[in-house]
Amino acid sequence: MRVTCTQPTSSRHRTRAPDRRRIASTGVTVKPLSCGRKGRPALPPLPRDSRRSGRYLLVMDTWDAIRSRRAVRRFDGRPLDAAHLDRILDAGRRAGSSKNTQRWDFIVVEDRERLGALAAVGPFAGHLAGAAAAVALVTPDPRAPGTPLSVMWDLGLAAGNMSLAAWALGIGSCPATVYEQAAAREILGYPADRHCEFVLSFGYPADPEDLTRAPRPGGRRPLDEIVHRERW
Ligand SMILES: Cc1cc2nc3c(=O)[nH]c(=O)nc-3n(C[C@H](O)[C@H](O)[C@H](O)COP(=O)(O)O)c2cc1C
Repeated sequence: MRVTCTQPTSSRHRTRAPDRRRIASTGVTVKPLSCGRKGRPALPPLPRDSRRSGRYLLVMDTWDAIRSRRAVRRFDGRPLDAAHLDRILDAGRRAGSSKNTQRWDFIVVEDRERLGALAAVGPFAGHLAGAAAAVALVTPDPRAPGTPLSVMWDLGLAAGNMSLAAWALGIGSCPATVYEQAAAREILGYPADRHCEFVLSFGYPADPEDLTRAPRPGGRRPLDEIVHRERW
């Protein structure tokens, strides 16, 4: 599967009309935006800004997206393109769920003041204040008697879909765990029988190099440390 999307250029790609170029450290390929697939319009282009002199398509296959994605907590302040935000939400909606129960609702927040308030729902939620958008993930209360653990499995799949779809569009994201439940409920107004354990921040990274930087050495445990074959 290939994912084709718009992506602002970084300084190292500013020179004239490079052909499709693969960034060796991550396997991510960039090519000029004009090369969009014939008959299939690219997503609406990102706005130009003073730091970027051109636009590029970022062609990322599923593996590239999985291995290059990282948590991004600093954003450049631009609002998300509406088509990009829709794509992210749709990616969450398309996740599989236990018995296809789809026990999730997504509350999208773009209002700067509300984003600022959300940054106080946990000790590590500060990145929400600078995000272009937050998506609060709302479920039935996972601790209510009789609620199966699969609610959180399903929510993780939806969140993973959103984060990967965003990444392939050149958009960074990071979860924030909600510690202050009452505050989150007050800010977001969801019903008493619902619960919000996580809020995702989304935005174009303050440092566009975040999107193509090589994975941090030691950032993930090696396969042979975590994989057990046949038996533990
Ligand atoms: C369930 C879950 C909760 C998380 N909660 C927070 C959080 O409250 N604040 C935060 O800054 N990052 C949070 N993170 C992001 C993790 O810190 C991040 O995924 C991890 O450090 C790996 O980062 P990397 O992908 O950049 O290597 C959370 C991640 C997960 C999966």
